[in-house]
Amino acid sequence: MTVTIQLPHNNDYNIFIDKLKKITIDTKAVIVTNPTVSAFHLNYLKNSLETKELSICTIPDGEQYKNMETIDSILVHCFEHRLDRKSILIALGGGVIGDMTGFAASIYQRGIDFIQVPTTLLSQVDASVGGKTGVNNKYGKNLIGAFWQPRTVYIDPSFLSTLPKREFGAGIAEIVKMAATFNKDFFEWLEVNDLNVSENIQLAIQKSVETKAWVVSQDERERGLRAALNYGHTFGHVIENETNYNTYLHGEAVGIGMVMANALAVEIGLLSVEESKRITTLLQKYSIPTQYKIKDVEDFYEHFFLDKKSLDNKIKFILAKGIGDCEITDQISKDVVIKVLKGFAK
Ligand SMILES: NC(=O)c1ccc[n+]([C@@H]2O[C@H](COP(=O)([O-])OP(=O)(O)OC[C@H]3O[C@@H](n4cnc5c(N)ncnc54)[C@H](O)[C@@H]3O)[C@@H](O)[C@H]2O)c1
Repeated sequence: MTVTIQLPHNNDYNIFIDKLKKITIDTKAVIVTNPTVSAFHLNYLKNSLETKELSICTIPDGEQYKNMETIDSILVHCFEHRLDRKSILIALGGGVIGDMTGFAASIYQRGIDFIQVPTTLLSQVDASVGGKTGVNNKYGKNLIGAFWQPRTVYIDPSFLSTLPKREFGAGIAEIVKMAATFNKDFFEWLEVNDLNVSENIQLAIQKSVETKAWVVSQDERERGLRAALNYGHTFGHVIENETNYNTYLHGEAVGIGMVMANALAVEIGLLSVEESKRITTLLQKYSIPTQYKIKDVEDFYEHFFLDKKSLDNKIKFILAKGIGDCEITDQISKDVVIKVLKGFAK
């Protein structure tokens, strides 16, 4: 199955969703990966690759290494292996590897090509598509980066066979996000099908990638519609921040964030209680957490302003509008938000 992402300036690229086939690259290439992923999947990728010259750049595993220091180590590897402007980086790993490889590619000699080979469910359905790359710093997550589209994305669902169950659930949260805000039929399909079945997960990946590709084609630089992909994230980022990024996986925090956003949507009449329950039930089917106890409501509210999407002191909320549609608004009063947050403080 192939999805094409259509972008201005002849930047279109293909996303292949299938078992890896032969990938031929007629220049030097570097695979950027980490020890966890390489132990499982590096040989498999190498067996599918034909390059002029190949080297492996292994960086430490973990979100805490998603920083400029690691970017520098990738760049040093590129210089030491004398990569030129035609060379290619290949990201083999989850969203952390993909975001960093893409960012390194965007700045090495003013920008070289890169390929995404995502190995987590979250990166297969979301992070590898759309060209957002970057790293964290002490001011927050993904605050340094670039829009830099990959040349191609190869999504092989067989990588998921080694993925821990929690990581799988975190990816499903992003699938639910896409269905709940953009595609009612897909949501209803998810309600009655089991994503632990391989044909089903392959189809769910395809549907999610099609949705993301369509959204990015409309709004590559997130001037409008693309912000809808942050459904659950406004709340989720606060939860991640309050828990020092060490309690919930990103997708899990987004899962709880969707439940909170739904409570707000119910409060202002965009979503029915019954629809909100259906979204929660779907998350719970995959053991994704849906509850969080807010300790200090005012403090939680203030945290919203740390989000880079909060402009001019206004908080941008992405809310489900029924199932399969959404609304982006920065017009909700503090009183209403506080009332909803109090519902999570009991
Ligand atoms: N660029 C985007 O549009 C975008 C979108 C969403 C998230 N992200 C970013 O993605 C990151 C989260 O990505 P993630 O959830 O993939 O986390 P991750 O990259 O940290 O991977 C999670 C863990 O799974 C391991 N792993 C990866 N593939 C595996 C496999 N097949 N088998 C066993 N273990 C495997 C990794 O080594 C890691 O320990 C965050 O940094 C987030 O900011 C980016």
